[in-house]
Amino acid sequence: MKLQHNISLKPYHNFACDEKTQFFTTIKRQDEIINVANWSKENKKPFLILGAGTNVLFTQNFEGLIAKMEIVGIKKLEELATEVFLEVGAGENWHHFVMYCIQKGWGGIENLSLIPGTVGASPIQNIGAYGVEVANCIHSVNAYDTQSNTWINFNKAACLFDYRTSLFKQTNNRYIIHTVTFKLQKQASIKTDYGVIREVLHDKNIKHPSISDISNAIIQIRSQKLPNPKLLPNAGSFFKNPCITKLQYEILKAKFPELIAHPISDESYKVAAGWLIAACDWKGVTHGQVGCYENQALIIINYGTNSGNEIFVFSEAIKKLIHEKFGITLETEVNVL
Ligand code: FAD
Ligand code: EPU
Repeated sequence: MKLQHNISLKPYHNFACDEKTQFFTTIKRQDEIINVANWSKENKKPFLILGAGTNVLFTQNFEGLIAKMEIVGIKKLEELATEVFLEVGAGENWHHFVMYCIQKGWGGIENLSLIPGTVGASPIQNIGAYGVEVANCIHSVNAYDTQSNTWINFNKAACLFDYRTSLFKQTNNRYIIHTVTFKLQKQASIKTDYGVIREVLHDKNIKHPSISDISNAIIQIRSQKLPNPKLLPNAGSFFKNPCITKLQYEILKAKFPELIAHPISDESYKVAAGWLIAACDWKGVTHGQVGCYENQALIIINYGTNSGNEIFVFSEAIKKLIHEKFGITLETEVNVL
């Protein structure tokens, strides 16, 4: 295993702060996953697998080994009359994989177009957007269990997928994801539940959208709405949208009639965290070189600091504010290290 020493993490994560890692390597083959796990045990130092670094915030130097996942490859395992099963390397770029499937006419993940990051990270927080979660299309996840030193093939139920979480997220670094197997549809069911998708299709006069039309609409929406991380470093939504009870919702709605939330069951509501932050007048607010994006308060932007901790301190100030005003505790979506 080739190790580099004392490497700046600036080029390896979206927030582009200048924290360092003591050791750095890349993983290009399956056996290198085992090497990383063994090195960590033998040297009694932690390891961290990094994908594209679009959802991490380093607040300090990493005193261990960071291994960047670069295993690629898309393999067709089986093609049936209506479905196709694809095994994909953890280091594949997520959006490229989506484009590959659309080009082949295989549907299911088109609503997840343009989400940054790698295929291997997609099950970790069960990426989701515009009415679809990746869990809908995952058949299984192959991962190395660094506790039992065995390879495990997790079927979908075993992955414990939920809103922005999974077994892999909850067990924090125990499993190293090697491949993800997707089950995609040859006759895709088109999902246009999100009003904004329908609006874009209507503007383009598309009455019977294909998966490609949906993907193009999503790309247009996301390109207009989200800040480009290369120009305005960010990790997407910094917090999850909090879930509250129906009673909590009714009390808050009476006090804040503009509150944006939608029911997720008979007993609970999901609240738009972006609205909560904006309602505290923090949309576009900056402290030093960190701020809430002027068009979407849930996105924290690094306007030039090299200190991940400065970003973390800003995020904690938002949490405090929201708790004081609404009695809601925001949960961080970004992986803070
Ligand atoms: P990283 O940031 O590198 O890692 C994320 C976590 O996964 C870390 O804890 C890391 O240790 C772990 N990890 C990564 N790969 C592996 C592996 N192979 N094995 C074990 N652990 C691993 N997310 C959404 O859900 N929906 C969105 O709409 C969305 N929009 C975004 C928009 C922007 C502009 C940005 C910047 C981010 C957005 N995100 C969104 C978040 C991000 O795209 C996802 O979380 C993505 O899956 C992260 O992929 P990554 O490869 O960059 O992971
Ligand atoms: N809103 C405001 N002010 C703001 C931001 C949002 O009032 O500053 C309102 C919007 O007007 C809208 C509601 O809040 O009515 C929801 O906003 P938006 O549609 O922008 O979506 P979101 O809930 O902020 C979620 C995901 C995104 C995903 C989009 C589209 C989470 C934490 N975030 O954002 O995922 O792309 O929906 O499905 O669930 C990510 O996880 O990193 C991410 C970007």
